[in-house]
Amino acid sequence: MTTTGTKPAGAKDEASAAKAVQQMFDSIAPRYDLLNHVLSANVDRLWWWRAARRFRAVLADPDAAILDICCGTGDMTMALLKRRPRGARPIVAADFSHEMLARGAKKFGAPGVGARAAGEPYAMPLEADALHLPIESASLDLVISAFGFRNLANYEAGLREFHRVLKQGGQLGILDFSEPGGLLGKAYAVYFRRVLPAIGRAIGGKAGPYNYLPASVGNFPPPAEMLALMRGAGYAEAVWQPYTFGIAGLYTGARAL
Ligand SMILES: C[S@@+](CC[C@H](N)C(=O)[O-])C[C@H]1O[C@@H](n2cnc3c(N)ncnc32)[C@H](O)[C@@H]1O
Repeated sequence: MTTTGTKPAGAKDEASAAKAVQQMFDSIAPRYDLLNHVLSANVDRLWWWRAARRFRAVLADPDAAILDICCGTGDMTMALLKRRPRGARPIVAADFSHEMLARGAKKFGAPGVGARAAGEPYAMPLEADALHLPIESASLDLVISAFGFRNLANYEAGLREFHRVLKQGGQLGILDFSEPGGLLGKAYAVYFRRVLPAIGRAIGGKAGPYNYLPASVGNFPPPAEMLALMRGAGYAEAVWQPYTFGIAGLYTGARAL
């Protein structure tokens, strides 16, 4: 299988693809939350909630070491925090877009940094690249990524890096879009490829990011291929749970060795 990763228009190699993604998220950060909720009709909240519920056992453990990678403006992190007990070890919430992370930190950061009240569980913001995490090997119980993994310049390298930082038996969750099949898939493709970029342009004022979104989903490996990548990278029990007719879905697996 050849190496796969996102390919933003004009990017020549992995370094320029990553740079283009980072700059794009920095530029849309001020309107990201609004656009997300409008474009998904708020279904994104249900997806974050479902993904967090899947990991409720590890989230309930106050000592669990958890990374939300590609946390962006922090809505996945907030869904995870709802399931953390008071006084729990902080979640590490990481992203390489300074502008996205700064907005996230205002929500999930420690009291005095973010909007968390004293004693409430919180997350520590970390500006970092998912492919080169400044995190000790075999140190995490859970790595989760919502709508971020698809944007990595090299999916195999991402899976390997998450595998490196997970403890043996540690769990991985990747929530991302996919392209549903059948009639519904055709109708959805019209929305996703034509209507959504037009709304994105109208609210966001830029065409690029909202053309990039459907293109990046089209380029993302379908579930069977993605599961094969996960197994090849050393994850056991790799499964995909479709959400909302397969518009999105959650990949899960556990570090085998
Ligand atoms: C679509 S947003 C998702 C944000 C959030 N997880 C959510 O569910 O709303 C994708 C995020 O992934 C981040 N990202 C993409 N590639 C990354 C990389 N290599 N390292 C760290 N963050 C990355 C982007 O900066 C962006 O904030």
